[in-house]
Amino acid sequence: MLRSSTKAPNPPRFVNQIMRTQMAQAIVITSTNLGIFNALDQDSFSSKEDVAKKCGIQIRAAELVLNALAGMGLLEKKVETYRNLEEAQHYLRSDSPLYMGKFIDLRPKLAESWLNLGAVLKSGVPHSEVNKEDKAEEFFPELAAALFPINFAYAQNLSDVLGIESRREKTRVLDLACGSAVWSIPMAQANKNVKVDALDFPAVLERTTKAYVGKNNVSDQYSYLAGNWTDIKLDGQSYDVVVLGHILHSEGMERSKELLRYVFHALKPGGTIAIAEFLVDDSRTQPAAAAVFGLNMYLLTTQGCVFSYRELKEILLDTGFANVRQLEKQKEDADLVLADR
Ligand SMILES: C[S@@+](CC[C@H](N)C(=O)[O-])C[C@H]1O[C@@H](n2cnc3c(N)ncnc32)[C@H](O)[C@@H]1O
Repeated sequence: MLRSSTKAPNPPRFVNQIMRTQMAQAIVITSTNLGIFNALDQDSFSSKEDVAKKCGIQIRAAELVLNALAGMGLLEKKVETYRNLEEAQHYLRSDSPLYMGKFIDLRPKLAESWLNLGAVLKSGVPHSEVNKEDKAEEFFPELAAALFPINFAYAQNLSDVLGIESRREKTRVLDLACGSAVWSIPMAQANKNVKVDALDFPAVLERTTKAYVGKNNVSDQYSYLAGNWTDIKLDGQSYDVVVLGHILHSEGMERSKELLRYVFHALKPGGTIAIAEFLVDDSRTQPAAAAVFGLNMYLLTTQGCVFSYRELKEILLDTGFANVRQLEKQKEDADLVLADR
């Protein structure tokens, strides 16, 4: 029992904040479902009455939602009117090519596996093994599509950093575990000399990769390698660039070492490997999102893990890669690590 003479500790700032994140999520999910961001624009301000009418909701409700969204940094409010800020305009309007609707729709399904966290922590047996072929074919087509808008800006930056646009000679790219092909599409768009081999499970290629490659008008630059990478034989020294986009964390340490050897063999001397991952720092606690992601891997795979940059650098150097470097550290949602053969 707390005594009246006991000095209270500081208020529970972190716990309170963490436990409330569900409400913020529900507001964003509901707002996209109601078309609130579609009812607003980035270039002009609208009133709560306008938004209420367009979305079929009460005026007082519109005001509350719009104020909450402005508070969360998605809208700007000026004299009782509102406009989309850049992120809402590009990622939350359903008519945008980078609309995050698929990612938002997937949240409740992904949240289901987290309900089993306690049982998984006790048993050490994952809730499901999403990278086993039959499960992967069910799980990844949707997930990979959901990730496209999140990775696209980073992928364009990667293409720039690799100087893809100015390459005059044929440039062969392997997009390994390509998903939506988000990492290679900007390279293909930047330069007609780029030819991409996109490797993934057949269902992902058929249901997701080909759709995104087609939508982005680069089909004539793509060929497909269907199957588990462990079953696909690649010619030695044949690629200028190999991208591993968010695949090492589901493979875990030992298979990642094998995968890096596989890539090393396939790269031309002087060729570059680009790895997109969620990296933890040396304490393995920061950024918190990456530490949390480590548990996501524990839930969904047997060997999956998060790497630190130091660990990844060490296994790249052990494999024979040189010039290991980290692109500008990409905050919470992705890190890019490059190395040359
Ligand atoms: C998290 S998604 C990432 C997709 C894409 N690279 C991106 O960054 O958005 C992982 C992808 O790896 C593929 N994948 C997982 N294990 C694989 C394996 N053993 N062989 C081939 N593809 C695999 C999945 O089907 C899925 O498309």
